[in-house]
Amino acid sequence: MQSYMPFINEYWPFIAAGVICYLGAKFLYQSAVSWDPNPGAARSYETPDKVAEADDGDEFEENDGQNPELSSALPWDLEHVPLEFKRLPVEETIQRSLEFYNLMSTRRTVRFFSSDPIPADVIRNIIRAAGTAPSGAHTEPWTYVVISDPEVKKKVREIVEEEEYINYTKRMGDQWTTDLKPLRTDWIKEYLTDAPYLILVFKQLYSFKEDGTKCTHYYNEMSVSLASGILLAAIHYAGLVSLTSTPLNCGPALRTLVGRPTSEKLTLLLPVGYPAAHATVPDLKRKPLEDILVEI
Ligand SMILES: Cc1cc2nc3c(=O)[nH]c(=O)nc-3n(C[C@H](O)[C@H](O)[C@H](O)COP(=O)(O)O)c2cc1C
Repeated sequence: MQSYMPFINEYWPFIAAGVICYLGAKFLYQSAVSWDPNPGAARSYETPDKVAEADDGDEFEENDGQNPELSSALPWDLEHVPLEFKRLPVEETIQRSLEFYNLMSTRRTVRFFSSDPIPADVIRNIIRAAGTAPSGAHTEPWTYVVISDPEVKKKVREIVEEEEYINYTKRMGDQWTTDLKPLRTDWIKEYLTDAPYLILVFKQLYSFKEDGTKCTHYYNEMSVSLASGILLAAIHYAGLVSLTSTPLNCGPALRTLVGRPTSEKLTLLLPVGYPAAHATVPDLKRKPLEDILVEI
């Protein structure tokens, strides 16, 4: 031991620096591997039910596609058929693109509804149109619950108004409520009982195949968002109006009210109908093309 003393005496600053560097590097490595990019995200939810609600279902298991025990969600021998497609003259394509823009530019979110009835078939066709949307691996992860029963609409309104009162007075905070002031929205939602139909759009986080195995709904959020865009366009094309709403904190109660499973999460609540005679809308301007388009 004594033979090392002169060496240690001479080089101790370097030895101490080496030990400190080693311990520092080890600490940094351990912090990196245990780092949670979204601390407390799902853990902060109170019940397992709410954890399921918060789950986007976008996690993928690693595999090389060679596992013989796995069955595909679609038939293994799915036939591929010729595409049905009619190519239009380019002038007609230009004209149609402009016509569609002109039509969609008149779509508005309406907050005052007439209770005039609408044929149920119109609503069914609108839902059919939404159901044509693309979806991740063709999982079609959507459920549309259509409510016309006045008693159920009343219960929806009670649930939404109770939560919205808390949202506006406590949860949303000053900045959010200030941003909403020009739109003149509040927690009173007369349209939920005035409109002849309410459409509740649910995204399905997952489903089960006939053999009982779980079917992952890849990109369910994006798929339902795309379908919702088509839904809004179909409502507008049919000559009706709607209000895109995402009532904060109402999902679980509304899901329970309409008897949907915990594998589904409410994404949108849309009253659909004709506008009230006195309906007004905020005089909003939309961004011009040059502000939303980047051509490369
Ligand atoms: C995701 C989303 C959530 C919305 N939530 C509400 C809502 O809870 N209540 C409401 O009155 N409007 C809601 N809106 C409507 C917007 O305020 C409206 O689309 C926006 O002001 C533009 O007006 P326009 O739809 O007439 O173009 C929502 C819109 C979107 C896209």
